[in-house]
Amino acid sequence: MFRLAQVTDPHFQCFHLASLRQLLGKRSLGAINLLVMRWRKHRMGLLRALLDDLRGRTFDHLALTGDLCNVALESEWQAALRWIAATGLPPERVTVIPGNHDAYVPEVIESGIFERLFAAYQTAELRAGTATYPFVRLRGEVALVCVSTAVPTGDLGAWGRLGAEQLARLESLLGAPEVKARRRVLLIHHPPLVNRLGEDRNLRDRAALQALLARAGVELVLHGHDHRDFFKTLPGPGGSPIPVVGLGSASYAGGPDQRSRYNIYEIDGAAITAVTYAHDARTGKFAEYRRRTVSA
Ligand SMILES: [Fe+2]
Ligand SMILES: [Fe+2]
Repeated sequence: MFRLAQVTDPHFQCFHLASLRQLLGKRSLGAINLLVMRWRKHRMGLLRALLDDLRGRTFDHLALTGDLCNVALESEWQAALRWIAATGLPPERVTVIPGNHDAYVPEVIESGIFERLFAAYQTAELRAGTATYPFVRLRGEVALVCVSTAVPTGDLGAWGRLGAEQLARLESLLGAPEVKARRRVLLIHHPPLVNRLGEDRNLRDRAALQALLARAGVELVLHGHDHRDFFKTLPGPGGSPIPVVGLGSASYAGGPDQRSRYNIYEIDGAAITAVTYAHDARTGKFAEYRRRTVSA
């Protein structure tokens, strides 16, 4: 059995008021609003509690599926790096992909700072040519197939896009013999299934991804972004169902159905069980919240 832990949307906060203007640079006033709003909804104390709980669990690998920061400040990513280091896991047992917040302004994408900072968590056994995404990490019976949906949307939205070129690379990697021989887990920040009105939070090319998955198949899709738990299936090759699991934010301070949480997926051949551990505001501790068979 392979145990894969998922933590998503921690939205690490780390800034000093005195230097905020300077830190934000080209980021707009909207960024300051966003920071204040997030400060109320997302609590760093919950991330520390989650870390304590996670350290007591047994698992093989940890995946962080994006939105590590709020407005793409290096200080926020440094806080994320300190948290990852505190898990005590070596980099080969931790995988990181970006979310839309990790691409808040175009300079971030152009400079490649996210990929530089998290390089140790993005080493790969397989890539298509020299492109950063997708990358594939082979771990035992599992192939972690990692994509980026991050585009600089600034204050104007939270949508994502894979792009035709990344989709073509993804299809070729999914067909590679060493990938196909394993349980393929697609790690993606934006949900490939949720369709919100207005398109400002959706994966724009989700129809193309859905068609690709129907052709090439994967055994599990894991995403974040919506800050709520989610489970549905997409049709795979021959109509066989592909489980799609979304997970709430690791730092969210709201009610029990969305409060700070993480998942551990028990992958045992074709059988996959998702176990959610969530923070209980009354006890101040994490406890098993839900156990769900996502693939029999
Ligand atoms: Fe998020
Ligand atoms: Fe997001």
